[in-house]
Amino acid sequence: MRIGLLGFGVVGRGVYDIIALRSDMEVAKVVCLEDISLPDAQVTKHFDDVLSDSTINTVVEAMGGLHPAYEFVRAAIEAGKNIVTSNKALVATFYDELIPLAESKGVCFRCTAAVGGGIGWLSELERARRAQSIHRVGGIMNGTCNYILDSMTRLDLSYADALSQAQALGYAEANPSTDVDGIDTWHKLILSSNIGFGITLDPESVPAAGIRNIRAEDVANFKAHGLVCKLISTGKSQDGSFSAYVQPTLVHQGEPEAAVPANYNLITLVGSASGRMSFYGQGAGRYPTAYNVVQDCVDVLSGKHFYSPYGKKISAVNADALCYYVSGVQDSWLEDNRQATWGDAVITKPVSVKAMHAWLKNHPDAFIAALPVSEQ
Ligand code: HSE
Repeated sequence: MRIGLLGFGVVGRGVYDIIALRSDMEVAKVVCLEDISLPDAQVTKHFDDVLSDSTINTVVEAMGGLHPAYEFVRAAIEAGKNIVTSNKALVATFYDELIPLAESKGVCFRCTAAVGGGIGWLSELERARRAQSIHRVGGIMNGTCNYILDSMTRLDLSYADALSQAQALGYAEANPSTDVDGIDTWHKLILSSNIGFGITLDPESVPAAGIRNIRAEDVANFKAHGLVCKLISTGKSQDGSFSAYVQPTLVHQGEPEAAVPANYNLITLVGSASGRMSFYGQGAGRYPTAYNVVQDCVDVLSGKHFYSPYGKKISAVNADALCYYVSGVQDSWLEDNRQATWGDAVITKPVSVKAMHAWLKNHPDAFIAALPVSEQ
């Protein structure tokens, strides 16, 4: 396998290092805008040098961002090259273009590192869905948010200090809003739901709430009730209708999610035959992520295409009624829906996920967290 590697940042460098130890594949060219030189690969600033090289059969995209990653990946598929990418924003956003295109061109398209970093989540979801119906996907999918929430809970760090540490450790995306506003998790949930349920979710129908407004007082309120806050994604399939949403969620101390430390992820599927299966590992970082990119290259060598057949476009319903913890804002809708008070925060009566997120859109300074399902 001869590889054109796009990008030489955190992930690209890791991929290069791991592949340098292998004899079944080689990085032939690296597209990098910086002036670097490498012992075993030609470095170029021009993607066309990869596209026009007929000896390169696989493009590994590790640039991140939507553009020009989309244009490069699309052109590579059109040229009949296999794709391996760690770019969840790219795959989730252009799912309904890139996946059918790859299918029609007969090329392999793998993106295991896009969800869960070093965890073989999508590759296991691919196997799980072959033998049963998938009822549920989701969990803790963002290492940065988990690191921040864990540091605030266990070490009593402030939000700002915990975020700085996550950035210094290289977990956070270049723009931390992608992590802390739940957008990274949103991309990962959409991708997991599409593959698990065999559909193409309309991204507009999937709401995401993040953790940027969480305060030390909120964490103290949760501790006082034996609860831990985690950013959790939920994808559900029931009788042909689908729900998908991302939100801070309170879990009881002692539950598996509550114990997930630092930048780790815990991602779960519920299948009709297997029941619950959870996957735990480092969800971010150079070598964990690069490891799964290289695993995908090995899968390409054995002819694995995409994880599931492309499915029809559909909107998430999100009619579940949940009780929420809400802080940072007061208004009449909240008052009308108040059932209890924790410190200066409101605990709502059951409200639909759709209604809660619609309210949050108009109150960007609020922090919300769903109460445990057992307390609904
Ligand atoms: N910023 C992401 C995270 C990287 O923290 O999980 C891996 O997708």
